[in-house]
Amino acid sequence: MKVRELVSHFFLFTFCFATSVLGTINESAFTASDIITRDVVIIGGGSSGTYTAIRLQQLGKSVALIERKSILGGHVDTFYDPITRQTFDFGVVLFENISVVTNYFAHLDVELAKFSSLGVTVQSFADITKMEKLTNASLPSPNATAAALTKFGEILNKYPYLYNGFNDLQYPVPEDLLLPFGDFMEKYQLNALAYQVMGFLQGGGNLLNQTSLYVMKYLAKIVGNFLKDNFLTTAAHDNHELYVRALERLGPNENAFVNASVTEIERCDTNYAYSGHDQGSASIDECDTPVNVVFNIQSGAKLVKASQLVIAIPPLLENLQFLDLSSEERSLFGQFGNTYYWDAVVRNSGIPRNTSISNFDPNAPSGLPRLPGIYDIGPSGVKDLDIVYYGSPYPVENVEVANDIMDKIAGLVKVYNFPPNRKKPELVGFHDHRPYGLFVSAEVIKNGFYKNLLVLQGRRNTYYTGAAWQVHDSSRIWNWTEMNIIPKLSS
Ligand SMILES: *[C@@H]1O[C@H](CO)[C@@H](O)[C@H](O)[C@H]1NC(C)=O
Ligand SMILES: *[C@@H]1O[C@H](CO)[C@@H](O)[C@H](O)[C@H]1NC(C)=O
Ligand SMILES: *[C@@H]1O[C@H](CO)[C@@H](O)[C@H](O)[C@H]1NC(C)=O
Ligand SMILES: *[C@@H]1O[C@H](CO)[C@@H](O)[C@H](O)[C@H]1NC(C)=O
Ligand SMILES: *[C@@H]1O[C@H](CO)[C@@H](O)[C@H](O)[C@H]1NC(C)=O
Ligand SMILES: *[C@@H]1O[C@H](CO)[C@@H](O)[C@H](O)[C@H]1NC(C)=O
Ligand SMILES: *[C@@H]1O[C@H](CO)[C@@H](O)[C@H](O)[C@H]1NC(C)=O
Ligand SMILES: *[C@@H]1O[C@H](CO)[C@@H](O)[C@H](O)[C@H]1NC(C)=O
Repeated sequence: MKVRELVSHFFLFTFCFATSVLGTINESAFTASDIITRDVVIIGGGSSGTYTAIRLQQLGKSVALIERKSILGGHVDTFYDPITRQTFDFGVVLFENISVVTNYFAHLDVELAKFSSLGVTVQSFADITKMEKLTNASLPSPNATAAALTKFGEILNKYPYLYNGFNDLQYPVPEDLLLPFGDFMEKYQLNALAYQVMGFLQGGGNLLNQTSLYVMKYLAKIVGNFLKDNFLTTAAHDNHELYVRALERLGPNENAFVNASVTEIERCDTNYAYSGHDQGSASIDECDTPVNVVFNIQSGAKLVKASQLVIAIPPLLENLQFLDLSSEERSLFGQFGNTYYWDAVVRNSGIPRNTSISNFDPNAPSGLPRLPGIYDIGPSGVKDLDIVYYGSPYPVENVEVANDIMDKIAGLVKVYNFPPNRKKPELVGFHDHRPYGLFVSAEVIKNGFYKNLLVLQGRRNTYYTGAAWQVHDSSRIWNWTEMNIIPKLSS
């Protein structure tokens, strides 16, 4: 390892001062109109990338935002019902009432309102894997839950630093934070909370063997906010609107590019002696521009020349094949694992509109459902449409997930003996959120993974943001980005 870094350092040093053909981006192959010069280029138009682009634009920086999909918004899923012409969110739903959120929505003229639940009057539990309606199963008593919640609140208060991503994590990392969450709950007798905690952390795989750090981070403020019932959502139940406005405000095909696939990124790091490139470093021509990004859109290839790069996609090696990774970056990103999460919309499920069904395994600890499987099915707020959430700790094909959802719904309707529905159930919305919930093992956390990861911020003119650096919560990602990334990019 050491030797290899030394060798590549030597090459970098040599070639950056000599005429070199190490770089593969050939600027002269682009016509002037296909070369875009910007202060900051941002890869990924999800929650974090869009926020970064809009804020930098607000602060007078020029930006290019590049998104692979046809729309911005990442995990946001808004369903437009052509029949009622109503909308609802089945991906990202809630936002916190903090200034970073309210300022952002105000800037893009999207109205927020207090979130209220969707009129569920019958909350039912079923063992959906075995297809059994549970009459005996019930959540722990309100008293047990309240007691556990108080205790958990006290424990969370010991770790206020968990709010700021991994930035303020203490070393050595407290042993409690390294325990599997099942052992942690056992140790502090918090089992009465397990089922609800799973509800908050949907998509994170097996709750009981998630490292406590991740669970505790996520709950750091959530618990308090749920108690205060203090969440916001868009007044129109259309969170996607934020991203439509953002795209307009940035300027489609001018500063924001959708349907755009990045093919290559080269960073020139003359100011950064320690590097260890494995792949082509930037050639001398590009050394006058710190960051060079080539991407394809329908009209052809474009080259962005920028001073700084923001990676706002999950930093997995499979996602970063276009990036000239150093051996250090490669080694860190290569340690991430991830989980799997889906959401879907079903029309004419046959489940009454006032009913939600949660998956409960009476034979498992705390009733946590077996995965892969459905977490719950519930009303969307719009007639004849239900929302389904589905999770897995390991990969499952989308077609299998979709078939499983439809099979299980048909089964539940029979088991519950719901009045027959003459219309056939239909899967009308489906989103695969993989790769979700990036994590590393407790051992790797203990050995300083996040400290080393954070050292990458700013190196090679590159910054990173997104859920991997905080939690899967837009409000907190924006807050973290505002505190930790925007100041560095706007100075
Ligand atoms: C770069 O592109 C120009 C114009 O297409 C071409 O003439 C030149 O040979 C290319 N250089 C390399 C090193 O490929
Ligand atoms: C992006 O691609 C989709 C599907 O191919 C297409 O419908 C849409 O018009 C494209 N959008 C833009 C802005 O190019
Ligand atoms: C960021 O979050 C913290 C903790 O909730 C809050 O105190 C602070 O006001 C937030 N900052 C902004 C700009 O919203
Ligand atoms: C957000 O919180 C503020 C107080 O900080 C309150 O005045 C406002 O009504 C809240 N917004 C909503 C939509 O509830
Ligand atoms: C509750 O009902 C389920 C399914 O009917 C059964 O498998 C389970 O053993 C029951 N649990 C108890 C505690 O009776
Ligand atoms: C639950 O708590 C309330 C108030 O603290 C108490 O009056 C009640 O007896 C408790 N119920 C049970 C079943 O322990
Ligand atoms: C978590 O549990 C699942 C199922 O029991 C197992 O497949 C997986 O390897 C476990 N993961 C860890 C990190 O222990
Ligand atoms: C829920 O809806 C069903 C079917 O519309 C109805 O029969 C039932 O009475 C409702 N239950 C409650 C508690 O509102």
